[in-house]
Amino acid sequence: MDYTQKMMQADALKGKTIVVTGGGSGLGKAMTTYFLELGANVVISSRNQEKIDNTARELEVQTGGSVLAVPCDVRHYDQVEALVQQSCEKFGSVDILVNNAAGNFISPTERLSSNAFDTIIDIVLKGTKNCTLAFGKHWIAQKQTQKVVLNIVTTYAWTGSAYVVPSATAKAGVLAMTRSLAVEWAKYGMRFNAIAPGPFPTKGAWDRLLPGNLKEQFDLAKKVPLKRVGAHQELANLAAYLVSDFSAYINGEVITIDGGEWLKGAGQFNLLEDIPEELWDMLEAMIRAKKG
Ligand code: HXC
Ligand code: NAP
Repeated sequence: MDYTQKMMQADALKGKTIVVTGGGSGLGKAMTTYFLELGANVVISSRNQEKIDNTARELEVQTGGSVLAVPCDVRHYDQVEALVQQSCEKFGSVDILVNNAAGNFISPTERLSSNAFDTIIDIVLKGTKNCTLAFGKHWIAQKQTQKVVLNIVTTYAWTGSAYVVPSATAKAGVLAMTRSLAVEWAKYGMRFNAIAPGPFPTKGAWDRLLPGNLKEQFDLAKKVPLKRVGAHQELANLAAYLVSDFSAYINGEVITIDGGEWLKGAGQFNLLEDIPEELWDMLEAMIRAKKG
């Protein structure tokens, strides 16, 4: 067994219908693939119709599952309401919403126009709000229970991060929404959880966060105590567990999957890792000499 293998028992999501925003690429596509393999029907959405149509066709052939591709810009509530309607028309009802769609790029904040800042907030925070509100209201009105919302955030949702300030601001809001609704809407039979991934290479993120030769200059694996980036299947395993009935008692939680990356940046003396083994004898002697 290793971490790239599939974790859940077969049919763990059989009979479930799952909506994955941004499901046509990257981590959304990886989660969609595994959800289909576990027996779910999946609705994928994004702004790019051709992309989601191609992904839907590819994954139906690959997994034998059923995929509906619905173009939807999560910034627009009317489009999200149409997503709810089309998903229900095709599959009868929706059980799980994965708020995965995001926009991001690196920039010194003073270079951002007001509209650039808004664009990220609108996709990440307002988009997650739009989907959560539209699906949540629908489930409440229909008196449907046992529903799950999974939000994809980042570890800088609570640490903050320079150079991706709109994204950090928006993801922090999504985390607050996750924890707030986990309590408020539990009475309607909904669970809310989040995943905070560390670096998982995807084209969407890497083109915007490590353009050009920044990929070579800033090897993100070096920031991770486990000295590697994440594998897509690891994240898909965690997501499948969190949306399945096996996690029925987990509510309002954010699970970090980053190989210890953010904690390495946080611990005051973690920089002592750079001290060579042979120096520790001398340092210990110096400290002991201070006794008394
Ligand atoms: C400064 C920029 C900019 C840049 C765009 N803008 N790129 N400003 N630096 N590099 C400005 C534009 O000039 C414009 O402002 C405003 O932002 C909106 O730009 P548009 O191109 O019109 O927006 P849109 O077509 O809606 O595209 C949204 C986008 C784009 C976010 C800019 O990159 C995109 O489509 N991204 C989707 C995929 C994505 O980002 N994936 C990565 C997720 S990774 P003005 O004032 O000129 O009108 C992630 C977490 C990673 O979220 C954590 C990793 C560890
Ligand atoms: P990605 O492939 O770029 O995924 C983002 C998806 O969001 C795309 O499919 C994009 O599709 C969609 N999207 C963007 N704007 C949208 C909008 N307005 N309406 C609907 N869909 C929209 O990047 P990724 O790395 O897989 O990111 C997936 C999630 O993981 C994001 O929430 C991201 O913040 C999170 N994350 C990633 C990493 C990482 O290392 N990769 C780390 C931490 C967190 P269209 O362009 O076709 O609309």
